[in-house]
Amino acid sequence: MSAESPSSSARIVTPRADSRAPVGIFDSGLGGLSVLRAVRTQLPDEALIYAADSLYAPYGERDDDFIADRTLAICEWLVKQGAKALVVACNTATAQSIALVREKLPVPLVGVEPGIKPAALQSKTRVAGVLATQVTLRSARFQGLLERYAADCRFLCQPGHGLVQAVERCDVGSAELRTLLHSYLQPMLDAGADTLVLGCTHYPFLDAAICDIVGDRLALIDTSVAIARQLERVLGQHGLRATPEGADTAPPRFYSTGDGTHQQQLAATLLQINAAVEQVVIPSRRTAAPDSQAA
Ligand code: DGL
Repeated sequence: MSAESPSSSARIVTPRADSRAPVGIFDSGLGGLSVLRAVRTQLPDEALIYAADSLYAPYGERDDDFIADRTLAICEWLVKQGAKALVVACNTATAQSIALVREKLPVPLVGVEPGIKPAALQSKTRVAGVLATQVTLRSARFQGLLERYAADCRFLCQPGHGLVQAVERCDVGSAELRTLLHSYLQPMLDAGADTLVLGCTHYPFLDAAICDIVGDRLALIDTSVAIARQLERVLGQHGLRATPEGADTAPPRFYSTGDGTHQQQLAATLLQINAAVEQVVIPSRRTAAPDSQAA
């Protein structure tokens, strides 16, 4: 994924915004932790709140209205918690709902999208693979990216069915997962791809398993660092960068609509962050009904 274009991110913030307030980061589940990791490295003085909608993950197999409903509800909730800016650290939610969130919420906003542009710039064979959710791949935003940047490069777009679910249960290397990854990656290698776009924020946690399969034959495009830099620019544009004097040295505040067990485990093992995860109920129009877990 890459950060959305800077021009679409600038927005005047409400006068109440305070540079000491936290940045809110949201994903359908645990994938956004790969973005949080990059944000912590790039912006160590910023306080962070992370919300995972794990009760309703994966979004990639939900309908568009459900994704928009949950994305807006969680972004509103983060703003109510005092977030001065938001990172929608989910390609699927960005593809589906970023325009809606931008329209409804007067806070600086950064979304993510698959790194088609860097892949097109870097591929020598002019064949690149993309792993992303079905919803991301069929979205108008993604099709627009291909039209804009992929004129002379062939992109092999593979929905990563099952991969988000694996990361959600903290499986980043089982034999079953490796077999699944192999089935997605071998056709890309056979077609001559030399580059692989990780178009879902969950997938950077699978980098070791992917590298075991592809070796150095595919260069991985994980643009979480670009997202962190974009956040830095957006905060700067709005005068919202935290200063070292006011720096919050506490670990990120973690919330989940699920029980948070796997979030705590993944953060501890892959990010070396030991922090409790608070379970929260974040109601939304589509999840108010008793059969709400159906997409
Ligand atoms: N991390 C999300 C993304 O980047 C996963 C979406 C899902 O829950 O399917 O698309």
